[in-house]
Amino acid sequence: MPHIPTESAPTELVQIIVQAITAAAGGWLPFDRFMALALYAPGLGYYAGAAPKFGLLPDSGSDFVTAPELSPAFGQTLAVQVAEALEQTGTQELWEFGAGSGALALQLLDALEVLGVCVQRYHIVELSASLRARQQALLARHAHKLQWHDTLPERFEGVVLGNEVLDAMPVKLLQRSDGVWHERGVGWDAEATRFVWRDRPTDLRPPLEIAGVHDYSTEIHPQAEAFVRTLGERLVRGAVLLLDYGFGESEYYHPQRHMGTLVCHRAHQVDADPLADVGAKDITAHVNFTGIALAAQEAGFAVLGYTTQAHFLINCGLVSKMEQLTQAGRAQAAKLILEHEMGELFKVLALAKGAPWDARGFVHGDRTHRL
Ligand SMILES: C[S@@+](CC[C@H](N)C(=O)[O-])C[C@H]1O[C@@H](n2cnc3c(N)ncnc32)[C@H](O)[C@@H]1O
Repeated sequence: MPHIPTESAPTELVQIIVQAITAAAGGWLPFDRFMALALYAPGLGYYAGAAPKFGLLPDSGSDFVTAPELSPAFGQTLAVQVAEALEQTGTQELWEFGAGSGALALQLLDALEVLGVCVQRYHIVELSASLRARQQALLARHAHKLQWHDTLPERFEGVVLGNEVLDAMPVKLLQRSDGVWHERGVGWDAEATRFVWRDRPTDLRPPLEIAGVHDYSTEIHPQAEAFVRTLGERLVRGAVLLLDYGFGESEYYHPQRHMGTLVCHRAHQVDADPLADVGAKDITAHVNFTGIALAAQEAGFAVLGYTTQAHFLINCGLVSKMEQLTQAGRAQAAKLILEHEMGELFKVLALAKGAPWDARGFVHGDRTHRL
């Protein structure tokens, strides 16, 4: 067993990754495998740990904020689109992937109750045992409606939700150096006792040709696309709402975006080194919504709409909801739609299995044509 540095907190996780590298051909682990272990190794990965992760401020011990943590108006407004989707698809079940603290589930269940919408069951597909326990505590009032799953059943129906889930799925890294494309993987420097980048020539390419010959780092998203394909194969009837930061592929693979989008979050700070402090911080990449929409269409989904979070929430009535909030509540809710906060970078993609309809969230500002 190689010597492991004692200063890296999750020593056992580092050891597991070093073992995976040692067992891999040429001591080279593709980055998506490294990211999967760093985030999801059972009991050890970042999302398996007991740290708070999601929250408003670093002094809560959290690392980043998500929309449902920022303001309950997020889930209350999303509930309007969810209610319409349940009605249009004739279903009564919700399926949330990666439910975090449970905040979105609580906001939705409370708001749907007020709207008089029948939800027979709220299913949560959660990889992390510690998050599942947190969700159970927060959602105790709705316990009779809730059901947790480790994986998706072979066939299901209802409305599927994923807020900031696609960005947490492992990505492959591509690196163009001196005009030659490489896949970037991870090795172990036993002398320096640290993870190191290792590049290998590859036939993999970004979905668009990147103009120019300059060095260029980027990501591709086979796991997120496979996830959407699996949804398409198994969802018999229903709709899917995916909310996340990202762009269409012409923006994603713009020649000037030469550093890619891979970053880490810890204590509300962003850094670009996923090989350090493994297991103690989140690793994430933006979503290529064109790739997701294409995978969805191949899997039998119709695209109902694609727009910014600001347009989506305003179309669903956020502004009138804000009028009922306190000044402090309004300020928080405004961050959901302000261009320099979550309004523009965050997007919403809606998919339907069955007959499509004019979904309320995309009535103004639909950008499907830009995908
Ligand atoms: C950035 S967090 C977002 C949490 C929450 N949705 C929110 O908005 O606060 C990403 C979540 O996605 C989950 N996740 C990633 N891949 C998943 C998958 N294949 N199935 C279910 N959950 C997944 C992670 O476990 C984590 O809880």
